[in-house]
Formats: sequence, C-alpha cells, structure tokens
Amino acid sequence: MLDRYNRKINYLRISVTDRCNLRCKYCMPAEGIKLFPHNEILSFDEIVEVIKTGVEMGIDKIRLTGGEPLVRKGIVDLVAMISKIKGLKEITMTTNGILLDKFAQPLADAGLDRVNISLDTLNPEKYHEITRLGDIDKVFAGIEAAKKANLTPVKINCVVMNSSEEEDAKQVRKFCAENNLMVRFIHQMDLNTGKFSIVEGGSGGDCKHCNRLRLTANGKIKPCLFSDMEYDVRELGIEKAYKLALENKPKSGTYNHSGKFYNIGG
Ligand code: 5AD
Ligand code: SF4
Repeated sequence: MLDRYNRKINYLRISVTDRCNLRCKYCMPAEGIKLFPHNEILSFDEIVEVIKTGVEMGIDKIRLTGGEPLVRKGIVDLVAMISKIKGLKEITMTTNGILLDKFAQPLADAGLDRVNISLDTLNPEKYHEITRLGDIDKVFAGIEAAKKANLTPVKINCVVMNSSEEEDAKQVRKFCAENNLMVRFIHQMDLNTGKFSIVEGGSGGDCKHCNRLRLTANGKIKPCLFSDMEYDVRELGIEKAYKLALENKPKSGTYNHSGKFYNIGG
C-alpha cells in the first residue's frame, strides 16, 4: 500500500503488551505505569486477523515489541500462529533480552527470524542503574542463546544520550564487533516535545523513507510514533482502521502527547 506521499508501507510493528520487566529511565517512571485493562488487550486471534488483513494490503514484515514482548503469556504460541500466515517475509522481535536465554530456541522453532536486543552499556552497575531492575548477565546469556538459535543477524539497540562516540556507546560498538553482532545507535527521544532523529545503523526516524505502521497492544493502528493519531481496529473494523492510518500518515512526525514508548513500542 502507498500513502499520500507515495511511501510504500510494508512494515507493521506490533506492541503485544504494555508490561515490562524493566523500568528503563528514559522509558518508564520508577513506580511503573498504569497498564491497559486486560479486556482492552488484543487477543492472539485478533492480532492474527489484523496481520492477515495487513498482508492483503501489502504488509510483509512484522516486528513484535512491547513493553517487553517476552512477558506476554504465550508469546511463543503467538509467533507460531503468525508464522503460519502466508505472505510474510519476515517476523522479528525487539526485546530487552532478560528472558531470552529461555525463549530463544522455542521462538526460533516457532518461526521467529531474528531479534533486536537492547543494550546501552557494558557496565553491570550502570546497566542496573539505567534499567533500575536489570541484571546484565541475563542479557549476555540472552544474546548467546539468540546466536545459538540462529536468530541472526542479532542486532543490538543502544540508546545514546548525545552521540555514538560517548564512552558507553564505544564499548558497546567494540563488543558488537568482537561478537558478530550488528549495532544500531538510537538517540534518546522525547515523544512529548517531538525530539527525534534518525537511527544510526537502522531505518527508524527517517520520515521520507518511512515504511511503517504500528499496532498498539490495545488495538489502535498508529500511522506514526510521533503523532497522536490512532485508529481503533475494534471500533472501526480492521480494514477501515488501516485505511485511515494510511490516509493520515503525516509527511513527518511532530509530537505525541498521548502515547509512550512502552505502549507504542520503540
Ligand atoms: N528514546 C529512544 N528510544 C527509546 N526506547 C524506549 N524509550 C526510548 C527513548 N526515550 C527504545 C529503546 C529500546 C526500545 C524497546 O525502545 O531503543 O531498545
Ligand atoms: Fe522495558 Fe524497553 Fe521500556 Fe526498558 S525501554 S522499560 S526494556 S519497554
């Protein structure tokens, strides 16, 4: 499908939960968040229906995000359901990696193609400080498990404050070079003020070439991370929600006062 600016839209990012087992400082407040009520969260069947309709309209690439996708109960079953859909070229996931040691092989067996894992520093204390809860050794184990399960190329998402030349970023770059990992540097963003920029080594933040739509855990299709627009698949029906998102996809992002990274998926 093409939008008003002739951009080809073929990529759907799906937030499967707004829950997370970490509390990264740039993403969530320490006390946690007000979660979507259970009945608002799309069921697996509903997610599959949204994908199927998307595929008919031209979606061929799916990314599962959160919150943290691995805390959604039954996530491996969801991946298995999605991988049965004909017409998808790629199913990927963005995870913080904490639970990946256990999930990598089952996810690969269910049909997941590859993963992006978040890692902003190599320093265990600093990692704990940024994530408020995380044990970096679990992430390292998750990375190894992902490689072993062939969820490759494994990509590392590294959020930087100012530049990819800062000390933590340099160390992450070196670690990735030594361990056969691809690295993407993401500048810390602010949805409220609309502060965003392109992802170094990735494809995000480049409005001219944006090929994505997003589906929130509570069933809204969003044309842009940096916009308040959203179209409810339950209220409007799936096809209409896609059409409205497509028709209203902005030329470039501005700001978002209603959503957060943990419920739209970074
Ligand atoms: N700025 C940039 N990226 C963010 N993420 C979450 N919050 C922010 C933010 N404020 C991204 C991180 C993480 C992914 C799940 O969401 O890249 O890896
Ligand atoms: Fe969780 Fe990811 Fe947000 Fe960190 S950035 S709190 S891992 S959703």
